[in-house]
Amino acid sequence: MHPIHAQIVGCGSYLPDRILTNADLARQLDTSDDWIVARTGIQQRHIAAEGERTSDLAAHAAERALADAGIPPSDVDLLIVGTSTPDDTFPATATQVQAKLGMTRGAAFDVQAVCSGFVFALATADSFIRAGQTRTAVVIGAETYSRILDWTDRGTCVLFGDGAGALVLRAANGGGEPALAVGNRQRGILSTHLHSDGRFRDILYVDGGPSSTQTVGHLRMSGKEVFRHAVASLVSVAEEAVAANQLTLSDLDWVVPHQANIRILDSVGRKLGLPAERLIATVDRHANTSAASIPLALDVARGDGRIKPGDLVLMEAIGGGLTWGAALARW
Ligand code: ACO
Repeated sequence: MHPIHAQIVGCGSYLPDRILTNADLARQLDTSDDWIVARTGIQQRHIAAEGERTSDLAAHAAERALADAGIPPSDVDLLIVGTSTPDDTFPATATQVQAKLGMTRGAAFDVQAVCSGFVFALATADSFIRAGQTRTAVVIGAETYSRILDWTDRGTCVLFGDGAGALVLRAANGGGEPALAVGNRQRGILSTHLHSDGRFRDILYVDGGPSSTQTVGHLRMSGKEVFRHAVASLVSVAEEAVAANQLTLSDLDWVVPHQANIRILDSVGRKLGLPAERLIATVDRHANTSAASIPLALDVARGDGRIKPGDLVLMEAIGGGLTWGAALARW
């Protein structure tokens, strides 16, 4: 009798129509395309329309992922949204997505781990499936960071964008063996690895909230400190994930990191000894979409034919908290 595990059976994403370029930003701030591209690799970002909520972006991404899987919303037992820009203080954005999808059964809740939110949500859904509590899960990363940026702070507002991405997971039997041991090519989520350290709250936070200021607040960040932690944590959690599966970094077909900054991605790739072409980078066109960045990048790389069935894919992220984590999957 083989243990149950979670297979990835659908993928989808959504970006708001409006594109804000670096040149657009340079018209309203003391910044330039050259500075933004050189320091971050970002060329443009998408911005949600007035009235367009995180749940709208999330619902579009989920609809596309479910259509890709060929699964109706009525089959979904569990819907998790990773977000730090919820529609409201409560209820959870996930419940609004559930309503927008026409779902009247199953459980829906949010996971808040900032830029690591998608990996934390994926790990949660994977655990529900492994425990036999869920058969079909939709895991979404969705954000409208444009709503929490201080648009007068050139050190932060140029870095972020809005968007959403989703995966559909389905329970399957089989496996439970390390990924490549004895030639096992089991598809699905192989392992997840989550970490948090609240001592670093002050290097990346929002200066508002219901129980502190009763305001929504704006994102505040010590860029250099975040940069340093991001590189170290993304390197260590990648090593942890491959070691846990008795693999080596050279076994990976693709690494899909959280898209914060191209210099962070390049530095992580160099330290891990990964060829640049095996690292999926979409930060140039999406900017940093926090919890949405990994599923958005997955959908791009799946759509352009890079990620194929059977490929070994490492997803990894770091975000405010600090939180960081990885999920290793065979697509
Ligand atoms: N345009 C022009 N000049 C700018 C801008 C801008 N948009 N922003 C800052 N500057 C100026 C600063 O004022 C400073 O000027 P000064 O020397 O006259 O004081 C100069 O550029 C250098 O500023 P630094 O903050 O030292 O620049 P740095 O090289 O550290 O780059 C950056 C800043 C891009 C934010 C970098 O620290 C970084 O990428 N950090 C990682 C943070 C990150 O990616 N966060 C995303 C959220 S966290 C996450 O997703 C994991």
